[in-house]
Amino acid sequence: MMTPISLFFLLSSIFTVKAQQGQSIVKPGSILTPITNSSWLSPSGLYAFGFYKQGNGFAVGVFLAGITQKTVVWTANRDNPPVSAESTLNFTSDGRLVLQSAQGAETSVANFSSASSASMLDTGNFVVNNSDNQSIWESFQHPTDTLLPTQRLLADDFVVLKSSVSESNQSTGRFRAVMQQNGYVALYPVGTSLTMDYGYWSTSSGIPNGSLNLDDHGFLYVTNSSFNLPISPSRNSAKGTVLYRLRMEDDGFLRLYSYNLQEQNGGWSIIWSPLNEPVVNICSPRGLCGVNAFCVQGGCERNSTTENCDEKGMNTTMEEVPGIIWENVTYSQSLLSTKQDCDDACLQDCSCEAALFNDRVCGKQKLPLKFVNFKIPYIDSNATLAFIKVRTPTPSSEGTVTKKKGLDILIIIVSLVAFAFIVLAISGIAIYRSRIFANENILNAGNVVLSDEDVGPRSFTYIELEKITDGFKDELGRGSFGIVYKGTIENGQKIIAVKRLERLLVDREREFQTEMKVIGRIHHKNLIRLLGYCHDGPNRLLVYEYMCNGSLADVLFKPEKKPSWDERMGIACNIARGILYLHEGCIEKIIHCDIKPQNILMDENMCAKIFDFGLAKLLKPDQSKTTTNIRGTRGYVAPEWHRLNCPVTVKVDVYSFGIVLLEIISCRRCVDNNLSEEEAILEEWSYRCFECGELGKLVNDEEVEMRQLEKMVKVALWCILYDPSLRLSMKKVLLMLEGTADIPIPPNCSSISQYYQGFGENK
Ligand SMILES: *[C@@H]1O[C@H](CO)[C@@H](O)[C@H](O)[C@H]1NC(C)=O
Ligand SMILES: *[C@@H]1O[C@H](CO)[C@@H](O)[C@H](O)[C@H]1NC(C)=O
Ligand SMILES: *[C@@H]1O[C@H](CO)[C@@H](O)[C@H](O)[C@H]1NC(C)=O
Ligand SMILES: *[C@@H]1O[C@H](CO)[C@@H](O)[C@H](O)[C@H]1NC(C)=O
Ligand SMILES: *[C@@H]1O[C@H](CO)[C@@H](O)[C@H](O)[C@H]1NC(C)=O
Ligand SMILES: *[C@@H]1O[C@H](CO)[C@@H](O)[C@H](O)[C@H]1NC(C)=O
Ligand SMILES: *[C@@H]1O[C@H](CO)[C@@H](O)[C@H](O)[C@H]1NC(C)=O
Ligand SMILES: *[C@@H]1O[C@H](CO)[C@@H](O)[C@H](O)[C@H]1NC(C)=O
Ligand SMILES: *[C@@H]1O[C@H](CO)[C@@H](O)[C@H](O)[C@H]1NC(C)=O
Ligand SMILES: *[C@@H]1O[C@H](CO)[C@@H](O)[C@H](O)[C@H]1NC(C)=O
Ligand SMILES: *[C@@H]1O[C@H](CO)[C@@H](O)[C@H](O)[C@H]1NC(C)=O
Ligand SMILES: *[C@@H]1O[C@H](CO)[C@@H](O)[C@H](O)[C@H]1NC(C)=O
Repeated sequence: MMTPISLFFLLSSIFTVKAQQGQSIVKPGSILTPITNSSWLSPSGLYAFGFYKQGNGFAVGVFLAGITQKTVVWTANRDNPPVSAESTLNFTSDGRLVLQSAQGAETSVANFSSASSASMLDTGNFVVNNSDNQSIWESFQHPTDTLLPTQRLLADDFVVLKSSVSESNQSTGRFRAVMQQNGYVALYPVGTSLTMDYGYWSTSSGIPNGSLNLDDHGFLYVTNSSFNLPISPSRNSAKGTVLYRLRMEDDGFLRLYSYNLQEQNGGWSIIWSPLNEPVVNICSPRGLCGVNAFCVQGGCERNSTTENCDEKGMNTTMEEVPGIIWENVTYSQSLLSTKQDCDDACLQDCSCEAALFNDRVCGKQKLPLKFVNFKIPYIDSNATLAFIKVRTPTPSSEGTVTKKKGLDILIIIVSLVAFAFIVLAISGIAIYRSRIFANENILNAGNVVLSDEDVGPRSFTYIELEKITDGFKDELGRGSFGIVYKGTIENGQKIIAVKRLERLLVDREREFQTEMKVIGRIHHKNLIRLLGYCHDGPNRLLVYEYMCNGSLADVLFKPEKKPSWDERMGIACNIARGILYLHEGCIEKIIHCDIKPQNILMDENMCAKIFDFGLAKLLKPDQSKTTTNIRGTRGYVAPEWHRLNCPVTVKVDVYSFGIVLLEIISCRRCVDNNLSEEEAILEEWSYRCFECGELGKLVNDEEVEMRQLEKMVKVALWCILYDPSLRLSMKKVLLMLEGTADIPIPPNCSSISQYYQGFGENK
């Protein structure tokens, strides 16, 4: 930990000029104005408390005065409008801090009275003391969107980081980061209850009653003072040369920034974010942003008002949005017999912007439509029909315009009225489209038809699948509960894989539901995509994208054509990304439970995708372990499966990954009885080679860069430790594989042989 003294010296040497202006203690009677004497500086001049420019006026807050970008880290009364240049900030003689308008109206800046001193500290904390020299108020205890080093966010559902509207507008935005009582840090939209349904990210474990802390080295962790739970990777920056801040951002991401004070023209750079993939892809449901709105990164903006209910030249209709559901916040509902009646009811109600119709109940909805998600018919009742109100210009009022021109006009009309609404596509859906569909949305708007890709998996009948697979002729392989067949759709244009679930009815039903739940909703480039399913009488089938390069086992264990070292490293990183996404990318943690080369498929670009989620376990956000019967495949299952009543955690996947990584490194199976006894068990053999410094043997003396090889083996050995709690997390694994984290020597692996002593039959 860096002492305030060393920070002081360091910063004062950097900000010598400013430091002279720094005044440490402010006494009652002091006054600030926006133009002259606008702030009180910290001793080094790094931080300032006072007026900063906001919109057309000024706001009061704490900002970094000592760097070029005057980054704001705290704002008083953030939702109040900016004040004029004639305002004064008065530290009154009776010890209050009030903002006085030119007209004399007073607003309290912070809730305290009878203060006798105040001080802007070099940590960025503005502290107010009473006459007994006791702190009675600190800006650190009332965070806005930023957490600074040494500031703590206590387990409290109300003291949270809330995003700002934008970089330049510090008013409360749409997202918040909460340090929960259960010790998990989780991200939610503003204005929802703090339940799993609404959260879109959380840490994978927690410390009950812990607090969220950022240290001087930019290390973010949860602690209860006896136990630390790392959140961001630890780092070793030279003391005090780098500034850090954690910010809840207006796009829903939590980001950790650093600023190197020694670089002349340095700026803030993002060094960590828990979400590296856009989990909150608000542009996803294209149809919904639809006609009345356009999609921008961060939300659907709707430029339309309800006042224009009977707007001239606009034809208002209701359009069904198939495959989509949203939060049911019905403001008025009635019993109506047909969907047409429901449509009409909404059309006639100026406030109604959308409707849900289910079993003769017509629920009228206002904007914003929240928590929009893809509908999985099997799980979400498909009897609910969703409609939104659509306004299109009446062709006659536009004269003879081409369709294209009509759309231009639509864009203009749409742009004229202000009504922003936010559609939050949360709960694990992530559609990776780097393109922003701003224009496309308007162009596609006319037909609110969602392409197959956009809607969740579609339903097939058994007959259809029989036809598609030509009577289940071409077998591709076998999964945990069934056989996978090849099929073609779109007139033979597209090849797909169809898994027919066999086995006992109960298992099959469970497997079917698990797969639907796990991959029906999530999308990641390293996880196989579920295209459809069949739930038809006794038949249960699942339809996937087809991977032309077979499984990793095919690729790896073929003696003829071994993939190159670089290809193999790419494959390892891809698998790690896929597993990391399962473990941490979704609100429910997912344990795959059966990671092995046969369950990793290779697409035409040799990109690895994880397959077969039938054995997966879903954990609730506040759950970190589960008990279950043994799952998985011998050779890849973690030792704790064999211990009686031992709960399993995501670390079982880490173990399996470690074994697969060794196989990737050495291009051989984890157990190979054709080899000498010494070499037969890859796990033991690898450790022996590592200890003896003979890593070359593992790759059959293939030409590879020794440092890389050593790195890979070390990561693998860290993954297969006997004690699950010592194993790396997938996040660490990925950082190490990608080379951004140091890899210590793995602890003595004698535990490995212990394990095998207990399970001698494995030899
Ligand atoms: C700024 O404040 C200092 C002390 O509080 C005072 O001496 C000085 O005159 C003020 N300057 C202006 C321009 O008001
Ligand atoms: C900041 O955003 C809020 C909410 O969108 C808005 O009401 C306010 O006028 C904005 N303030 C400025 C200074 O732009
Ligand atoms: C500051 O507040 C004190 C007491 O409330 C008042 O007497 C004084 O006039 C105020 N100063 C300014 C510049 O408004
Ligand atoms: C001060 O406390 C009151 C009542 O608890 C609250 O309404 C007000 O918003 C608070 N003001 C500030 C600046 O926090
Ligand atoms: C408050 O304490 C600080 C250091 O502990 C000291 O420098 C300062 O003079 C004290 N102030 C008062 C008013 O006692
Ligand atoms: C406030 O009080 C703390 C001790 O409670 C002291 O360390 C600090 O210097 C004081 N600050 C001011 C401005 O007097
Ligand atoms: C801190 O958390 C750990 C792990 O949850 C627990 O074992 C320990 O008792 C806690 N310590 C305190 C002081 O609450
Ligand atoms: C959490 O911590 C607070 C203050 O440290 C304490 O009062 C409370 O009892 C703790 N709650 C639990 C569940 O440990
Ligand atoms: C309004 O739009 C609907 C559907 O697009 C169309 O059937 C209808 O004829 C239009 N009405 C008018 C008055 O243009
Ligand atoms: C929406 O909620 C209302 C009451 O909360 C309920 O009666 C209605 O059935 C719900 N509609 C759907 C489609 O779930
Ligand atoms: C969904 O719709 C299909 C056919 O449209 C029907 O067979 C199935 O039973 C429905 N599922 C539910 C849960 O209502
Ligand atoms: C929406 O309407 C407002 C108010 O007229 C306007 O300022 C804004 O630019 C419009 N937005 C877009 C993207 O057209």
